[in-house]
Amino acid sequence: MDTISTYETDVDWSTQSIIDRRDKYYAASQRAFVPYEKPLILKRGKMQYCWDELDNKLIDLLGMNLCISVGHAHPAVVKAVTNQVQNLTHCTTMFHHPVPAHLAEELAVTMPAGHDWVVHFTNSGAEAIDLAMMMARAHTGNQDIIALRNSYHGATYGAQAVTGVQSFRHNVAQLSNITFVAEPNQYRGIFGPGTEPYLEEIDRSIAYSTCGKLAAMLIEPVQGYGGIIPMPQGYMKGAAERIRACGGLVIVDEVQSGFGKTGDSMWCFESHELVPDMMVIAKGLGNGIPIGAVVVKKEIAECMGGKFIFHTYGANPVACAAARAVLRVIRDDNLIDNAKTVGSLLSEGLMQLKDRYSVIGDVRGRGFMQAIELVRNRDTREPAAEFTARVFERTREHGLILSKSGAFKNVLRMVPPLCLSAEDVQPVIDALDQSFADAEKQNSGN
Ligand SMILES: Cc1ncc(COP(=O)(O)O)c(C=O)c1O
Repeated sequence: MDTISTYETDVDWSTQSIIDRRDKYYAASQRAFVPYEKPLILKRGKMQYCWDELDNKLIDLLGMNLCISVGHAHPAVVKAVTNQVQNLTHCTTMFHHPVPAHLAEELAVTMPAGHDWVVHFTNSGAEAIDLAMMMARAHTGNQDIIALRNSYHGATYGAQAVTGVQSFRHNVAQLSNITFVAEPNQYRGIFGPGTEPYLEEIDRSIAYSTCGKLAAMLIEPVQGYGGIIPMPQGYMKGAAERIRACGGLVIVDEVQSGFGKTGDSMWCFESHELVPDMMVIAKGLGNGIPIGAVVVKKEIAECMGGKFIFHTYGANPVACAAARAVLRVIRDDNLIDNAKTVGSLLSEGLMQLKDRYSVIGDVRGRGFMQAIELVRNRDTREPAAEFTARVFERTREHGLILSKSGAFKNVLRMVPPLCLSAEDVQPVIDALDQSFADAEKQNSGN
């Protein structure tokens, strides 16, 4: 059966009508985020590839914003979802169903031994961030929360308040008692490279901007939208000591860095000698089916038992069936090793591009979280936002989907599905090479 023509019968696939209909009927709040000059319209996907409405093939280096973890239309996920939809599409959270309970158990066993871990399923990452903050405040009895500049934790009222990227912060009253500290960006951080100055900044911020008693600190082990900023070794451990000394909890946001994305372990915090108190996950957990979760030490979660927190679609069995398949595929297909091996090849190729194009100031990342940062001058590191935009437009013409990130919009971010293969690497590097060459030609007016 040709599934494409099935949905073509009542869907208008003509390019302009898709753009016009969205412009007319989407609210401005949802309409605003369009990265390409000419909107990208996607029709189908298979593993690490996508096709646009005109059937042009693209390598999806963005994994649809990291939601596609094991591959578009991965057969194991499609099968699990189809089976579950056909049997019971939803079981409201107040009734019992084995699939979410299995998933909770399977997630709990991925966490460090020595603690009892429990899971609260949500519909999205931001909802899980809201819940984690609420749990931290309820459990500790403290209000002050520390967040990192340049972080992204989501768009809800709560998650936005701990998001340190201006373009996502709206001109409305934000949640109170949030203090931002400088992110330990090793390339352009305000204290330069190193860990200690950024830890000292936490001490100062606690001393001057909080009451001294903390509810929590939120940390992305690798800042994603911030432009792939990995936390340097020692930072998360040092930060945790400081937060815990003030009574606070450590919340790691693994929405982007989890599921083996960095090629080292299932969760990125495992490489940082840290056992968090809570972990927030979403995106890749469902491989495109909406789901989020807070994985938390049982004794912390207990404080919320006296009242209801009811997410209508939380623990939806279809989403949970997809997530169970994702965890199985990651394990059975050795996808964490794949991210490490193929990620290294990708990184090598990017380093070679850096040798050729002086506009590339930095190449960084681990596994399948890679970035190149573009600068006008390697010494001053002045961001090359315009040139980045030009390269970005060309990458799509050369068959890549990636993202333009970072506070200065000068970072090309690559976070492909875990199934990207070694054979994909050279075509990706060639496409980037051509995109840089095109952008340079355009720059010199040829
Ligand atoms: C690190 C991180 N945390 C939280 C979120 C919020 O997730 P969601 O968009 O599912 O609400 C995102 C989304 O991009 C994210 O990247």
